[in-house]
Amino acid sequence: MSRRRRRGQRALRVLISAGPTREPIDPVRFLSNYSTGVMGSRLAAEALLRGHRVTVVYGPATEALPRGARCVSVERSVQMARAMRRYAPRADVVIMAAAVSDFRPAQRRRTKITRRGQMTLRLCATPDILGSLPRRPRQVVVGFALESARVAQRARRKLFGKHLDLLLAQQVSPARSPFGRRAVRAWLLDRSGQVTRLGVVSKSLVARALLDKIEALWYGQPRPEHP
Ligand code: CTP
Repeated sequence: MSRRRRRGQRALRVLISAGPTREPIDPVRFLSNYSTGVMGSRLAAEALLRGHRVTVVYGPATEALPRGARCVSVERSVQMARAMRRYAPRADVVIMAAAVSDFRPAQRRRTKITRRGQMTLRLCATPDILGSLPRRPRQVVVGFALESARVAQRARRKLFGKHLDLLLAQQVSPARSPFGRRAVRAWLLDRSGQVTRLGVVSKSLVARALLDKIEALWYGQPRPEHP
């Protein structure tokens, strides 16, 4: 069955953040994570397949983006925040799939740190990009969460805490890494309280499930308000 949007349904402007961020320590080192950009790339491909317009704010990832997606390359979380704030006011849908570094070095050294027996790096939290984005009426906002335990319960807290419409939660464990092209164990939560266990699925399937939900919210019936 074709997943292209039906006649009369207008193309949505979909803004996706994806990939990791890099937080510089000194001119040669940085703090980052294992994100590869695969999830963002699959989301962009699925949205394009359905005829939507896609912009990806992309951290330094290894996965190529599909043809047709506009790519805005960023490196640090502060640059990602700036780009998201710039493009979000015009987006119908915002999907924050990026693995934003939660911490950055409190100080960026101008010269290379030399090797020594021991050293302490002071970190501070990066600002919550998703939690502080400007919203437009009817905009559908989707967050991601990576959890080690009590996945659905913690994800639910993030969904309501960050005032999201949808949240895609994935489990991270020593046995199952969610990074790269591997299948992930995932849950999809919506703000009516519904939790859908997707099970262990490919990232293409996650993207499909998410876009189905987003389109149902957009083209479907009126949406329930957040409490
Ligand atoms: N996120 C963000 N800005 C940050 C950190 C995270 O916008 N500085 C976004 C992520 O892209 C994701 C959502 O917030 O869509 C949840 O990310 P996560 O790291 O799981 O949540 P945190 O609120 O940072 O909570 P935790 O303490 O579990 O790390």
